[in-house]
Amino acid sequence: MTLSDLEAELARLLSSYRTQMAMAASEQAIRKVYADFGGSSGSMRLAQKEALRSAPNTEKKAIGLATNQILAAVDVELEARLQGLANAARAAELRRTVDVTLPGRQRRLGRLHPITLVRRDIETIFAQLGFVVAEGPEVETDFHNFEALGIPKDHPARDMQDTFYLAGSTDIVLRTHTSPVQIRTMLTQQPPVRIIAPGPVYRKDDDPTHSPMFNQIEGLCVDEGVTLADLKGTLLHFVRRFFAGTDGAAGLDVRLRPSFFPFTEPSAEVDMSCVFCSGAGCRVCKQTGWIEIGGAGMVDPVVFGHVGYDAERYSGFAFGMGIDRMAMLKYSVGDIKLFFDGDVRFARMFR
Ligand code: PHE
Repeated sequence: MTLSDLEAELARLLSSYRTQMAMAASEQAIRKVYADFGGSSGSMRLAQKEALRSAPNTEKKAIGLATNQILAAVDVELEARLQGLANAARAAELRRTVDVTLPGRQRRLGRLHPITLVRRDIETIFAQLGFVVAEGPEVETDFHNFEALGIPKDHPARDMQDTFYLAGSTDIVLRTHTSPVQIRTMLTQQPPVRIIAPGPVYRKDDDPTHSPMFNQIEGLCVDEGVTLADLKGTLLHFVRRFFAGTDGAAGLDVRLRPSFFPFTEPSAEVDMSCVFCSGAGCRVCKQTGWIEIGGAGMVDPVVFGHVGYDAERYSGFAFGMGIDRMAMLKYSVGDIKLFFDGDVRFARMFR
């Protein structure tokens, strides 16, 4: 290869180097193009080596000069392209704008669900009377939910609490009331016992005042000498405390209306005087002046037998109330389903 051949070859390589540089968009691509042409084993160096191999000594210096001149141009091009990239990145950074006058994003604070609020209210009132909160499973055995409470398989009381049995089982149910927690507590604990047990229960019910899932709170007090008077006094204290702040709360009354539960004897429905009309009669209490809030009674000796308590020595009272029902009364909510729909606009209304 003669000197003029080399010069022609280097010129051709320089122009294709420039074309490829123009197309390289990233720093990595730019450096690759540079290495392909101007690098130590790039095509320009190779051309120079080839020319040197066949050239007479007198031409070698000229070959070196010609190559270095082109390589200098190649370096200039590389620097220019890298500088261009850096400039573009800086310009993009400067174009990025932050509008400091934009208002911040509000984070909405969560609220407690009204049922939670009411449950806590109730727990607080009973805790101050010395009751402790107990819990039991929502999926219960037939034994705890029915059998030990004096409700054998063929007992008519089962109809009222017909419930959800787990598939493939006649012995595992979704609990129909919180009363099985009475059994669980008495099986693991000796008197004196004073517990309240809140939580969800399940029944085959569905209308504006009944939901297939609702919440109850159970109370159980067992000791020596516990009487029906203790039950009534406790319930009376409870409703007056629970509605404290409402007009006429201090004058609220409670009555025990004879009824039947297989696990209490005697048994009663618990009514409170109507908070809306103070007992005068209105639409809510259906003109009776009374509102039913739960069931109660003295623990049946049969139950003590199931849990191994000495029925001669101990007596006790138990009651069960609807938490949702109490919430409906407290907040004047007409449809129990509103509590379970999950509409935050509703839930946000309560503190
Ligand atoms: N468990 C009964 C029910 O759900 C209520 C109740 C509880 C009655 C405790 C008496 C004693 O209807």
